[in-house]
Amino acid sequence: MPDAQRFITSNLGRFRAELYDFLRIPSVSAKPEHAGHTRRAAEWLAERLTAAGLETEILDTAGHPVVLAEWRGAAGAPTVLVYGHYDVQPPEPLEEWTSPPFEPTERDGRIYARGSADDKGQLYMHVKAFEALLATSGRLPVNVVVLAEGEEEIGSPNLVPFVEANTERLACDLVVISDSGMYAEGLPSLLFSLRGLAYFELHVKGARSDLHSGEYGGAITNPANALARIVASLHGPDGRVAIAGFYDDVVAWDAETRKQIAALPHDDTEFRAELQVPALAGEAGYTTLERLWIRPTCDVNGLLSGYTGEGAKTVLPNRAMAKVSFRLVPDQTPARVKELFEAHVRRVAPQGVTVEIRELHGGRPWKARIEGAAFEAAEAALEEAFGTRPVLMGAGGSIPIVVEFEEKLGAKALLVGFSLPGCNLHAPDEWLPIENFEKGIGALAGLYQKLAG
Ligand code: BES
Ligand code: MN
Ligand code: MN
Repeated sequence: MPDAQRFITSNLGRFRAELYDFLRIPSVSAKPEHAGHTRRAAEWLAERLTAAGLETEILDTAGHPVVLAEWRGAAGAPTVLVYGHYDVQPPEPLEEWTSPPFEPTERDGRIYARGSADDKGQLYMHVKAFEALLATSGRLPVNVVVLAEGEEEIGSPNLVPFVEANTERLACDLVVISDSGMYAEGLPSLLFSLRGLAYFELHVKGARSDLHSGEYGGAITNPANALARIVASLHGPDGRVAIAGFYDDVVAWDAETRKQIAALPHDDTEFRAELQVPALAGEAGYTTLERLWIRPTCDVNGLLSGYTGEGAKTVLPNRAMAKVSFRLVPDQTPARVKELFEAHVRRVAPQGVTVEIRELHGGRPWKARIEGAAFEAAEAALEEAFGTRPVLMGAGGSIPIVVEFEEKLGAKALLVGFSLPGCNLHAPDEWLPIENFEKGIGALAGLYQKLAG
């Protein structure tokens, strides 16, 4: 067993205890009342990076700070930029957690806590891989820059300007990110894609105030009815998005990738049963995995209107609101989708109400170029750590900064994640397998060694 691996195995208990301290900090980026905690998470992480042997700085932004750590002692070797996020999603609804979200708890070989999988646990695996390498050989095999942000879960509003302002410091040969999952337990995975995102609020306004639904109902447009009609117009019976031009920029995926997707073990019946839905649904002509990874979507994420308290209230609400988001695939862009969505809503909105669209955030989709030395190094390192050849998979989720890194830094991104399906990211009872935490640290240490060439 290599020294670094032995170090990881014998220090695993401490690594876990440290991670639990990290997970105890409620760094919820979306909530102003947690701004102090979010900064504390940045400080905590910076301290651990320093202790591991990296030169670390906390850099302020207009929002939550960026943690930047460097180790540049590998003259002639490649430079790797590691990206992750130390902010987390709000934990609500609290009553649905088996153990409190910010009190990490081990059950059934899993670490339960908000941020265990997304992304503190996975980000910390890189820190521990660096520590293991530095502690056992006094150096890292490659030059390293760690960039951890505290605003990923709110759309990274300050990260693009940060990257643009620091292209020299962030210059690298490869970007490595662990903020995704494995296809199945025991099956290590590399991503071939991430979907993009375009997120909007749709506001419908009617009369000066709410009105008696008997006295006025029938004579004016009810904003709730109008919103329902707009929402219903977004899809056709074939499950396709019914916005004119929506698919114009969608590039058909290559046959090779579709073949790989079809070869992955997947069972619709099990998938349906696990989600406890009466049936699966989606765009006609595509399999479930294709619908999730390589096809775009439109979904209502929230609805607000009228009386929702107990019993009946006969009222015409004077406003209605929907949160509507699109998952995008190459070569769709949030800007183009916004134009098409606006034109569609203008066309279908009923008379008698005013409709306003507000853009919340967005990001472009990413498609990997899956070849080259870095990719092979990752395959070999994952196989050594997990005892199984990794598979290629897509991801339905979004990490908007990935394309920006590739374009602004001119480096390829490698996405290697360690959470598992059903790990409840963004939901109650989020978890990370302890086994993946341990094997993942070993895999990452192995990856950095192999990247040295
Ligand atoms: N880590 C996730 C993205 C993800 C999830 C990638 C699953 C691969 C597999 C990330 O933290 C996230 O939640 N992203 C948001 C978008 C962001 C702009 C708020 C998402 O996908 O909804
Ligand atoms: Mn994440
Ligand atoms: Mn997330």
